[in-house]
Amino acid sequence: MGSLKKEGEMEQMRDEFMEAILYVNGVRRVLPDGLAHMTLLEYLRDLGLTGTKLGCGEGGCGACTVMVSNYDRTSNKCVHYAVNACLAPLYSVEGMHVISIEGIGHRKHGLHPLQESLASSHGSQCGFCTPGFIMSMYALLRSNKNSPSEEEIEESLAGNLCRCTGYRPIIDAFRVFAKTDDALYSGLSSLSLQDGSSICPSTGKPCSCGDGRFQPLSYSETDGAKYTEKELIFPPELLLRELAPLKLRGDGGMIWYRPLRLQYLLHLKAKHPEAKLVVGNTEVGIEMRMKRLQYQVLIYVGQVPELNTVNVNDNGIEIGSALRLSELLRLFRKVVKERPAHETSACKAFIEQLKWFAGTQIRNVASIGGNICTASPISDLNPLWMASRAEFKIINCNGDVRSVPAKDFFNGYREVDMESNEILLSVFLPWTRPLEYVKEFKQAHRREDDIAIVNGGMRVFLEERGEELFVSDASVAFGGVAAVTLRARKTEEFLIGKSWSKSLLQDALKVIQSDVIIDEDAPGGMVEFRKSLVLSFFFKFFLWVSHRIRDVKPALETFPPSYMSAVKSFSRPCRAGRQDYETVMQGTAVGLPAVHLSARMQVTGEAEYTDDTPVPPNTLHAALVLSKMPHARIISIDDSESKSSPGFAGLFLANDVPADNKIGPVVADEELFATDVVTCVGQVIGVVVADTHENAKAAAGKVEVEYEELPAILSIREAIVAKSFHPNTEKMLRKGDVELCFQSGQCDRMIEGEVQMGSQEHFYMEPHGSLVWTTDGGNEVHMISSTQDPQKHQQYVSHVLGLPMSKVVCKTKRIGGGFGGKETRSAFIAAAASVPSYLLNRPVKLILDRDVDMMISGHRHSFVGKYKVGFTNDGKVLAYDLEIYNNGGNSLDLSQAVLEIAMFNSDNVYDIPHVRIRGNVCFTNYPSNTAFRGFGGPQGMLIIENWIQRIAAELDRSTEEIREMNFQVEGSITHYSQCLQHCTLHQLWKELKLSCNFLKARRDVDEFNSHNRWKKRGVAMVPTKFGVSFTKTFMNQAGALVHVYTDGTVLVTHGGVEMGQGLHTKVAQVAASAFNIPLSSVFVSETSTDKVPNASPTAASMSSDMYGAAVLNACEQIKARMEPVASKLSCNSFAEIEGAFVQGLGWVALEEVKWGDAAHRWIKPGNLLTCGPGNFKIPSINDIPFNFNVSLLKGNPNSKGIHSSKAVGEPPFFLASSVFFAIKDAIKAARAEMGLGSEWFSLDTPATPERIRMACFDEFTCPFVSSDFFPKLSV
Ligand SMILES: Cc1cc2nc3c(=O)[nH]c(=O)nc-3n(C[C@H](O)[C@H](O)[C@H](O)COP(=O)(O)OP(=O)(O)OC[C@H]3O[C@@H](n4cnc5c(N)ncnc54)[C@H](O)[C@@H]3O)c2cc1C
Ligand code: FES
Ligand code: FES
Repeated sequence: MGSLKKEGEMEQMRDEFMEAILYVNGVRRVLPDGLAHMTLLEYLRDLGLTGTKLGCGEGGCGACTVMVSNYDRTSNKCVHYAVNACLAPLYSVEGMHVISIEGIGHRKHGLHPLQESLASSHGSQCGFCTPGFIMSMYALLRSNKNSPSEEEIEESLAGNLCRCTGYRPIIDAFRVFAKTDDALYSGLSSLSLQDGSSICPSTGKPCSCGDGRFQPLSYSETDGAKYTEKELIFPPELLLRELAPLKLRGDGGMIWYRPLRLQYLLHLKAKHPEAKLVVGNTEVGIEMRMKRLQYQVLIYVGQVPELNTVNVNDNGIEIGSALRLSELLRLFRKVVKERPAHETSACKAFIEQLKWFAGTQIRNVASIGGNICTASPISDLNPLWMASRAEFKIINCNGDVRSVPAKDFFNGYREVDMESNEILLSVFLPWTRPLEYVKEFKQAHRREDDIAIVNGGMRVFLEERGEELFVSDASVAFGGVAAVTLRARKTEEFLIGKSWSKSLLQDALKVIQSDVIIDEDAPGGMVEFRKSLVLSFFFKFFLWVSHRIRDVKPALETFPPSYMSAVKSFSRPCRAGRQDYETVMQGTAVGLPAVHLSARMQVTGEAEYTDDTPVPPNTLHAALVLSKMPHARIISIDDSESKSSPGFAGLFLANDVPADNKIGPVVADEELFATDVVTCVGQVIGVVVADTHENAKAAAGKVEVEYEELPAILSIREAIVAKSFHPNTEKMLRKGDVELCFQSGQCDRMIEGEVQMGSQEHFYMEPHGSLVWTTDGGNEVHMISSTQDPQKHQQYVSHVLGLPMSKVVCKTKRIGGGFGGKETRSAFIAAAASVPSYLLNRPVKLILDRDVDMMISGHRHSFVGKYKVGFTNDGKVLAYDLEIYNNGGNSLDLSQAVLEIAMFNSDNVYDIPHVRIRGNVCFTNYPSNTAFRGFGGPQGMLIIENWIQRIAAELDRSTEEIREMNFQVEGSITHYSQCLQHCTLHQLWKELKLSCNFLKARRDVDEFNSHNRWKKRGVAMVPTKFGVSFTKTFMNQAGALVHVYTDGTVLVTHGGVEMGQGLHTKVAQVAASAFNIPLSSVFVSETSTDKVPNASPTAASMSSDMYGAAVLNACEQIKARMEPVASKLSCNSFAEIEGAFVQGLGWVALEEVKWGDAAHRWIKPGNLLTCGPGNFKIPSINDIPFNFNVSLLKGNPNSKGIHSSKAVGEPPFFLASSVFFAIKDAIKAARAEMGLGSEWFSLDTPATPERIRMACFDEFTCPFVSSDFFPKLSV
């Protein structure tokens, strides 16, 4: 190996002279040494290119997407692909061209058609996700010679999350680039349709929203060809430049090597056996960022040709270990086309599995070697390598190569058969033989871009003997069932030599049960579900193979046709939708479906959020010192290590707070910094400031706190037993006399039960953050905050610093989503940052990392409702008694009001003569829960809808019948003594039933279910009533300041915050119409406490009404001194309705918050597991309804709201409970197959795959649970 060493050394010598460069948006940049610790995202943002956002830092949200262009020397082609800049090490893109949102279009120089299209289609609400979506789409367009298909577009966006729009407007904006149905987008665009309706400006499809004035983006209008002359080209220097190896340094002595030859790589590995190899950095990056692991030597092997080679020969394919997954997918797709079908069974299985592997940005960089060598027990590919007889080629530093069968490679948790002087060179995948079948399996929480709960790879090789087929060889491997990808050896041995028959299936299922054992307290939980998945995967495999061999052995025993539903692969139809409403123009702007005023800034990345604001000189960065215990006494705090940490500038604790350490939005029951006792994990103990964000975090991590553990209350149930309630929160609402009714004998039947609902994380895309600075030597404090309530920031800061409110100013230009999560729980963050800023007289910036944000800032309340209901044999409900509890967490915050709203909404739309509702807010050792869209209403309504459905089951009637006979009517008096006026419920219900053809849908569903044993459908239709406005009536008032300038332009400032709902746009429309001037003459700059004081939070679905009215009033006063109109629904509001529905869908069917409680003992007590997009899944673009029609009741102006405005922020949220009840309906059909069809069953929310599967009681669940089993839930 002497010569190898020499070559290695020679290459090493060259690296000393290498100038590292990078092109960013066409501009050449020299990369200085010393930045090896930096990500591409940090670098871009430091350059001032803040259009690329930090949403999560873990590759899970896509907000940081940029396009990388690279010249591929093997294919002599320039390749373009989207990457997550938050995980890409800066030096990994050396010699490449990075294009960020700023590089594709700009307001001054012209928008790119993608930007134009997204802005015009109302696809950008809060705008935080917008640059990421555009860049994913841009990369798709640039990497495709031809126009992409709609399916490719949706697939390429699976790694981008949006929490506002419900995705439909984004899909509509980008669909025009697919050029699939030109007529829809161009031919019709200027026409009015025969029925008088026209084309929706939002969707480009027929609707009744306008009179033809508004035209959709047509295909030719958005044709990228017009733009190509402006498109940034691949820099010629990078085509000509020869790559050289790199050796660069980073913080803390880190070294980054980039070898370009295998020899040099082996030489480096010999020199640094502890070195980490890196390709996509999607594992290493997470380890370093989230798990805080430190690696001193990183060797980037992505450009070592020997690790990137592919060799297709007669025996199979040899694949270099650094091959990216997207390339692997392309390779397999190619060989599947080229090779005989029987040879590529394994390739097809890989193709299917890769479809559900992460998002496009991750697949574009992640390597097969990185996946294999990480040896994650939930790797999606490792079970398939094992099953398909792959061999791993391993090379040591001397150049010796050995081969290890994949099935023997994985030794233990993240341990593989490889020494520290070895690396993975390549993988050999043999072709499959005739009668050899390989199949992939994966069950995740969310179908796309999610890690597996259980996955698997299975193979059989069958042999013909007479009329029978015998198993000659078999492999069965599972991920997610043990600390390592597990070979089911006993099962394999059992299968070999057996005849392929139904009886083999039954026997094999028994063997698997004893072969794959999952411990009760196994990490990951969901033990029963995982066990049942193991069985059902095998069952599916058996069915699938049996189906395949029909042609060879038609005489073999077959399964009923209805069983094929278990093996049909999922395919997604293209989305469709309709938005239907009426508009009436008033004045120059009201009623105009105006594009969000900031949309053009948002799509170009020019719109600034808190973290994008240029910081003043001398700014310090802050990080919080957080409690690690749910309930404990603080014994001591040791800051010695922290003080000597690089860049440390100060630690501030409770004693340092200049004035009052006690805070709270309603009652002051919180401490800014904990003094003696901590009451939750994540409670703030202090704040550290340092020169950089990373240094502040490192220093905060070094503050040692010694605790004395105290007993913790970690669920509503524990709180009820311990009577742990927040003081004075017990509430009762009463109508009639429930007890008397129960005893009177009027109720033919009575039911009692419980409904529990999990909580929900807000997952606004922009995390919490504040920038605080002082002026005049500390006489005034100013801040920019991401908040729905700037006034609360002002109040908190003045309170803890002891300054009058008149000397504290909070400004908010826009926020990247709030949904209630930034109403109160952002204020303590600003207050924490203000303490060091004030005391040190320096600006301080505190931006929370996503995991910290999710851990400390509270969620939607989980609830438990215990009900007793009396009703007649006809289904008329007479009495409803409810005990309702919400999980307040460790401070009261808004929990009392949330409980009250739940109590108010507990009747939903039903007229019940006797009602008693008693409520309590539970004190638990969790961070305080807080406002979230719907504010308790959805929880109250979900309880009643549950038992309405139960009554239907008891009486064997349809749920719709029971609903209809109990509907409230005009004049009904609610249990909170409100008389219903303008009750449109009956009309609306009737119209909906007709327009969706509910009865046909019911018949279709029943028909489908009767033909499909393993796939079921359900249908549901759910009504809702929702009271908007604040319950504290004094909060329902608003202020606005209107300036009219001599050039005729108008500046409006009001107390509401723009968070994507288009509030500023609506308010500007009001002002424009009031003055009869064009909308373009009105500007809404920002929300600021020194312009409009004492404003209420932007919440309760009231902001358009309140601030619209305030602006109108101000305009009228000006007009009187120098015509009333109001905010009508704009097209943007549809995206808000759809966004609310999709968020509700997440709440009922997907988003599960998991805490370390009695139900989840494998999580540390009081700790949050679901603290990032990796573990907490919100709906992605492919989870939205296939067909999503939104229609607003016509001819019913809202006489109470300002000029017929409609509250769209909160009410649509609960409509998504129809998804929950449709799921339940489908489960009912599945249970009917087991003879349980008429039995009532309960289902908790969210109805995740686990809950759904375990409720579908059958032969694959019954070995582990009974039919009334409840998967564990944190409440
Ligand atoms: C958002 C997100 C989603 C994900 N989704 C999935 C998913 O759906 N399914 C799934 O299975 N995984 C998933 N992962 C995990 C990860 O993406 C994969 O494991 C990926 O293939 C790792 O490749 P990489 O090149 O990025 O690895 P890196 O992080 O670059 O390296 C990972 C490890 O492999 C070692 N290594 C790399 N190459 C070699 C080699 N040639 N020889 C020896 N050691 C080597 C490195 O030293 C390191 O320890 C996801 C990760 C993220 C961040
Ligand atoms: S910030 Fe990079 S994916 Fe979320
Ligand atoms: S517009 Fe997508 S997250 Fe707000």
